[in-house]
Amino acid sequence: MTFESAASAAYIVAALLFILSLAGLSKHESARSGVVYGIAGMAIALVATVVLVVDNAEALAIVLLFVAVAVGAAIGLWRARVVEMTGMPELIALLHSFVGLAAVLVGWNGHLDPPVLFGALEDIHHAEVFIGVFIGAVTFTGSIVAYLKLSAKISSSPLVLPGKNLLNIGALVAFVVLTVWYVVDSQLWLLIAVTVVALALGWHLVASIGGGDMPVVVSMLNSYSGWAAAAAGFLLNNDLLIVTGALVGSSGAYLSFIMCKAMNRSFISVIAGGFGIEAKAGDDTDYGEHREITAEDTAELLRNATSVVITPGYGMAVAQAQYPVADLTKKLRERGIEVRFGIHPVAGRLPGHMNVLLAEAKVPYDIVLEMDEINDDLASTSVVLVIGANDTVNPAATDDPSSPIAGMPVLTVWEAENVVVFKRSMAAGYAGVQNPLFFRDNTQMLFGDAKARVEDILRAL
Ligand code: TAP
Repeated sequence: MTFESAASAAYIVAALLFILSLAGLSKHESARSGVVYGIAGMAIALVATVVLVVDNAEALAIVLLFVAVAVGAAIGLWRARVVEMTGMPELIALLHSFVGLAAVLVGWNGHLDPPVLFGALEDIHHAEVFIGVFIGAVTFTGSIVAYLKLSAKISSSPLVLPGKNLLNIGALVAFVVLTVWYVVDSQLWLLIAVTVVALALGWHLVASIGGGDMPVVVSMLNSYSGWAAAAAGFLLNNDLLIVTGALVGSSGAYLSFIMCKAMNRSFISVIAGGFGIEAKAGDDTDYGEHREITAEDTAELLRNATSVVITPGYGMAVAQAQYPVADLTKKLRERGIEVRFGIHPVAGRLPGHMNVLLAEAKVPYDIVLEMDEINDDLASTSVVLVIGANDTVNPAATDDPSSPIAGMPVLTVWEAENVVVFKRSMAAGYAGVQNPLFFRDNTQMLFGDAKARVEDILRAL
């Protein structure tokens, strides 16, 4: 058996493992085996690719390959070890930018060192180069902006350039015209032009999207990075890269679609860079006064409660408050008080963020409910503890059509008898909008670090 046919067989096995991995990752119980399948598939794919290259390449290329793999693996291992759970989305955004950059470089290589082809095959090659560079460059700058926004290195509010929709459409038209031109006459300046247009478009698309929609952007960039990899696969004649790219591309697109539905956003509007979304002028509404409560009084409130719902958010993750929250849950349940959790689909900073934290702290799965499952019960709940959540419990989403988060489904915590909000200050949440919940008559604020405050309540109980 030649190395080529052995590698083809390995690629088929790896592709099957990737499909099993995606299937496994779709459920809590099988997520761990999903990750194992993914690692196994990637290891097989890497070994097969390296063996193929070593079989065909010169000594220098082989040395470069091993140095690149060693450096990449060392950086990857280090980042994976030190990354905080709350820093995952920005790390993922940065990794997507590498996929985009790789697709651009592969495309450029396809131009500078073209294979010997004639007629229609040559035209197809030219189209592949152009499309690969375009998708790759959009993914590259888009992911960098997403990284900068998610890590709060730039403001997360949407950039609104005059005629922004026309700019996006203009860039797409330019791409189509340049592609046709390049297929007919493959000049270098055309490739430079499309690279510049795509870099600017990627930057503009993501810069135009506001804070609350960023989760969708991350999964959308995931999808783009998949298509960029698939385009590179066509150029490199690598079937596995095509299959893997298509899997990532379609699963990312599907995830974006589900998230858009969950957040009542138009899929087309988000992938088109906030198409039709207008930024709002500054907020000078007078919301009135807020009331404060102490940990001791909160303990008293809980002691007299019959049912408690906890709605965690990003602040619980920052404070690492899930462990004392789990202890509090246990203690209240031992006293015969019904305790449940209400999880918003985009609470925290990545899909499933709160579920992972609560599972880590060994909170039983059956009391952790989705937003749709708990919302109807909130009106008959004695106390809701909002622990480090803000945008996901903001009544403005349902009451104020001009709010940047208008239309986003939220946990209707204000319907409960009493609401206690745990946060450190009156600062806004991720989307940067004020939360009228804090000023409602049945809401009291418990200021301070969420972990410290929950521990205070535990002591008082
Ligand atoms: P946010 O709206 O981000 O609010 C978190 C709140 O936690 C803040 O108001 C902050 O107030 C408080 N906080 C921070 N550190 C704290 C600490 N140590 N102790 C106590 N409180 C603390 O949270 P959310 O309700 O979970 O909403 C998530 C937001 O992130 C949404 O806008 C969503 O669109 C966006 N987003 C989500 C994802 C995914 S996929 N889940 C990805 C990217 C973005 P103080 O500063 O006053 O303490």
